Formats: sequence, structure tokens, C-alpha cells
Amino acid sequence: MKVLGGEKLDRPPIWLMRQAGRYLPEYRELRARAGSFLDLCYRPDFAAEVTLQPIRRFGFDAAILFSDILIIPHALGLKVEFLEGEGPRVETISSADEIGKLHRTLDAAKTGKVYEAIGMIRSQLPDETTLIGFVGAPWTVATYVVAGKGSKDHAETRLFALRDPEGFASLIDRLVDASIEHLSGQIEAGAEVVQIFDSWAGELPPDEFDRWCVRPVVRVIEGVRKRHPDVPVIAFPRGAGPKGGKLASILGVAIGLDTSEDMALMDQSLPKGTPIQGNLDPLVLIAGGEALDRSVDRIVASAGDRPHIFNLGHGIRPETPIAHVERLVERVRGNGRTR
Ligand code: CP3
Repeated sequence: MKVLGGEKLDRPPIWLMRQAGRYLPEYRELRARAGSFLDLCYRPDFAAEVTLQPIRRFGFDAAILFSDILIIPHALGLKVEFLEGEGPRVETISSADEIGKLHRTLDAAKTGKVYEAIGMIRSQLPDETTLIGFVGAPWTVATYVVAGKGSKDHAETRLFALRDPEGFASLIDRLVDASIEHLSGQIEAGAEVVQIFDSWAGELPPDEFDRWCVRPVVRVIEGVRKRHPDVPVIAFPRGAGPKGGKLASILGVAIGLDTSEDMALMDQSLPKGTPIQGNLDPLVLIAGGEALDRSVDRIVASAGDRPHIFNLGHGIRPETPIAHVERLVERVRGNGRTR
């Protein structure tokens, strides 16, 4: 919370994207008991437990709510399922006439379970550990809704947007409203910070990036700030490169850097005082050893005097050795300037 308020700490606080998940045996055990991935998300006691597992094991400085970005389309009435080994499947909206499939508001029977989990997490989380809520950015969520699954170059979604920009804008508008609603619900339940995952922002040329990533995310943030002016926001426009800095300049949010970014260059181009997060390659965390130590040191050094939160450049992978995560945490905590 201090870093997001603009302070540079002696050692950066650390959390990892997807820190709850399959690389942990205790996650796999609970996941097997829950049945499906969505059952795990909607059982407040299980979702709370899974959120807390990495905090107990590694003592991270922040917990991220265990949930998924596809809860929004699901709570807007679309069928969503997660197929073992294949990833998500979503009922599609491939043209403007299908937008009517979406409910006007989020189904409280579904989102209520998420907020209940947040209450349970908050009551068990150490006071010094920050609780992060999240949504996917409208563009990223739209890529799943239009293609019906994860897609490589998001051709279907880009073509929808190019052929019928007004129609696509109304889909994005619905997702903007739902995101404001869902983030506000998470904050009211106890989330102290929110992160917006724009995992597929990187595909778009500059004008489309501006229209479908920057402007909708700005609207989400403005909508949340109207109700909760003091809650810090972290934007993660993955793959956007220097264009990502635009978001920080417009809104003064913190920026998550993906793996490909040059942290030192980003430090020069971002507004003074904008907090940065991320950048460590998840593959380096799998490799471990010297490669890991060197990357950690480079990232800590490149953050310079800027407020800095240590994190990965994308989610942790299931094959990551637990011992490497322990080594990472030790290195980050031992690497501070005075401590
Ligand atoms: O960071 C955390 O620990 C919080 C939980 C979280 C999950 N998904 C849990 C999850 C968060 C923040 C997400 C975000 C998410 N979900 C994103 C954006 C971030 C990113 O990684 O780019 C996206 C694109 C999704 C959609 C999604 N969910 C996909 C593509 C998949 C399948 C891929 C995979 O890793 O299996 C999921 C499933 C998912 N979400 C899992 C977890 C732990 C694995 C499910 C399982 O246990 O089988």
C-alpha cells in the first residue's frame, strides 16, 4: 500500500501473478476435491483457502483473490466452462445482434460468492498483507467472448471490431459497466487494491490500442474512482510496450510490466513517481539458480528510485519448482539497500 501511495521502500514488496495454482500440491488437492475449476471459484471457503495457501507458504506481501476474469461473462449469463488441459470455453457473441444474450447486470448469486470469499480471506489474512481484487480488461475479456476460447492472434475479435466498430463498442460498453460493478463489489467486500489484467493488449496497432484498450480501461478506472477514490489501481497492459505508459500518464495508476519490457527504459519514460511492478520472466523462475539471481538483481537495480513492487511479467507456470519461489523471495528480501 505504501509503494502504491508513491513510496520507495528499502526492499520491494513481492507477490506473484497466479501465485495460487497448480504448482502447489495443496492447491491441487483442494482443486480435486472441488470438482470443476468454477466450483472452486464459487465455493467461498475453498476460494479463500486457495488464496491463503501461498501466503502461508511464502509470506508474500499481497494476496490476490482466487477467481477468474471469465466470472464476468459467466455472471452476465453466458455459459462458461474450463476443459481439463484445454482452457476455457465461452458461449460466443460474434456479432452485434448477439449482445442481447448478455444480462444487463451481474448475477448476484454468482458474484455474491466471490464477495463472500473476500470477507473470509480478509478475516484470516495477516494485517500487513494487502488483498488485491481484479478483473480482466474489457478488450481481453472480449477476446474470449468473441472467439469462445483462447485464441492466438485474436483475428475474430479484431475483425468484429474492424467491420462493425459501433457494434463492438456496445459489447465493450457492457463489459466496462460490468467491470466497474464487479470491482466496486470486491472493494466493498474488502479488496484494498485492484488490478486490471489486459493480457491481450499487445496485439493491437496504436489507434486500436487506444480505442479498445486505453479508453475502456480509463472508463473502468474512472467509474471505480467515483465510488472509491482512494483505492489504488494497477494496470497490466501485457505486450503493450511503451504504449502502456500512456495509461499511467492519463490516470496515475501503477503499471505492471511484462517479460519483454526493458525496465530501465520504462523507468525513463514513465511519469515520475508512477509505481512499477513485474517483469521477471516466469521461465527464469523455472530455471532457477544463477539465471534467477541475476534477473532479480537486474530488476531491483533498474527500478532505480521509482516505487517498485516485485512480480513476474506473466503468471507463474504449473511446472515451477517451489524451491525456486523460496529462493526468489529470499533474494528479493535480502537485496534491499539497507535491510
Ligand atoms: O493470480 C492469481 O493467483 C489469482 C487467480 C487468477 C486465475 N486466473 C486463476 C486461474 C487470475 C488473476 C486469473 C486471471 C486470468 N484468467 C487471466 C489474465 C491473466 C493471464 O494469465 O493472462 C486470463 C487470460 C484468464 C483466463 C483463463 N483462466 C485461462 C486462459 C485459463 C486456462 C489456462 C490455464 O492456466 O489452465 C484459466 C484457468 C485458471 N485460472 C487456472 C487458475 C489457477 C487453472 C485452472 C486449474 O486449476 O485447472
